[in-house]
Amino acid sequence: MKSLTPKRLLIVDDEKDLLVLLRKVLAKKCGCEVAIAQSAKEALEQTTSWQPDVILTDIVMPDIDGLQLLHKVYEIDRSISVVIMTGYGTIEMAVTALKNGAYDFLEKPFENTKVSLIILRAFERTQLLRENFQLHKELQKGDRATEFIGHSSALKGAIALLTRLSRSDATVLIRGESGTGKEVAARTIHQMSDRAARKMVVINCPALPEQILESELFGYAKGAFTGADHDKDGLFLEAAGSTILLDEIADIPVSLQTKLLRVLQEKEIQPLGQTSTVKVDVRVLASTNQDLEAKMAKGEFREDLFYRLNVMTVVMPSLHDMQEDIPLLALHFFNMYVEKYQRSNMELSKEALKCLERRVWNGNVRELQNRINRAVLLTPGHIITPNDLLSPEELEKDGSTNKHGVDIPICVHRLPYNEAKEEVMSSFASTYLQRALTMSNGNVSAAARESGLGRQSFQRLMQRFQVRPKAFRD
Ligand SMILES: Nc1ncnc2c1ncn2[C@@H]1O[C@H](COP(=O)(O)OP(=O)(O)OP(=O)(O)O)[C@@H](O)[C@H]1O
Ligand SMILES: [Mg+2]
Repeated sequence: MKSLTPKRLLIVDDEKDLLVLLRKVLAKKCGCEVAIAQSAKEALEQTTSWQPDVILTDIVMPDIDGLQLLHKVYEIDRSISVVIMTGYGTIEMAVTALKNGAYDFLEKPFENTKVSLIILRAFERTQLLRENFQLHKELQKGDRATEFIGHSSALKGAIALLTRLSRSDATVLIRGESGTGKEVAARTIHQMSDRAARKMVVINCPALPEQILESELFGYAKGAFTGADHDKDGLFLEAAGSTILLDEIADIPVSLQTKLLRVLQEKEIQPLGQTSTVKVDVRVLASTNQDLEAKMAKGEFREDLFYRLNVMTVVMPSLHDMQEDIPLLALHFFNMYVEKYQRSNMELSKEALKCLERRVWNGNVRELQNRINRAVLLTPGHIITPNDLLSPEELEKDGSTNKHGVDIPICVHRLPYNEAKEEVMSSFASTYLQRALTMSNGNVSAAARESGLGRQSFQRLMQRFQVRPKAFRD
């Protein structure tokens, strides 16, 4: 979607003189940029390349008429306002255009004041539509950010705690291994809290050098340092009435930790170079995947700050503790990327899903997500197999072959013996049946004969392993 301040008008008509005249008049009266197109085809090209905000178009044109143009424009950008110009005897078409979403129509000949007024209103409408789309998008984004997927008791427990904490204004320390959803947890607290109407401010502490981090957090007064030629509010002020997330707080330098402690204790900040302090109403959330206790022992993290932060702590479960949620998460990410990359014919094979389920994910949900992202994007065919998800070394490590070179399904060595055996047997049986049916062109009696089995036994096996002979017939 384009910028929220529309000011580009495209005029489409097959009459060159009218185009030139309108361009001059409307550029002046509406104070906008104007482009012209002598055919609908040209107009569509401009719609894509120049991205107008309003289109004023004739309804009868030699190639594509105004109605079809309207339709195609909307396929490109629903927020463009289209105004139709009609000549004698085309009023019915104009009415149809209105029904199809055109913003307004003008009967030729028209007065300059009238056309400019309509165009100005059309600009306003485009702006409104864009703002609405934007809001809607943000709302959706917000929803998604707080959407935890999974039913495991570990995750449910964490969500229940986040829900309770969202009702208070307490500082919360969110802990957990890398990629376990600590930021999602912070957004969940914020969005369930009374502060949800305002945007949460996130600051990634290690991303900024000490000096910059301080001015970013607390702001500065004019003249505080060379180059500070005006007062600047910091992120704490920006987050007034809302929530601030200090992401990766373990990496904050000790000098800044002291200042942070004051914010937590006194609820006030002191911008750089300013003698007085400013009260702020901000809820502070902090996250870390580091061992803060070890950092304290080494003098790298202030104890008093730790205790201030550690009053309320949520520990996000690792994916290892949410093992049962892996299929759900995998399918969620799979669907998400299929939509993103528009690969709707893609499938995630059963083996691939099983393989994901049994793998040890040190990078937790994030790593699982990244793997699926890569596979959906890069898999050449339309079925994702274990080979598309794991490297040859990983496949090897996961036990895809054993020492004697007999193929066994990936990852079964992580299962208890009986389950592993069941897995291998069912994989063997279904492959065997499928091969026999392929050779016999789907003829069950012939496949049974070749396998040295009775027809009924063969059929029982087919039923058990869900192999259907139809699929093997030409
Ligand atoms: N239970 C979950 N359901 C859906 N998505 C999740 C879940 N947990 C994590 N994610 C997703 O995993 C990714 C990592 O989450 P997030 O950034 O919140 O983790 P983090 O703990 O802050 O990681 P890091 O320590 O690496 O910063 C995000 O894309 C997030 O949406
Ligand atoms: Mg994070």
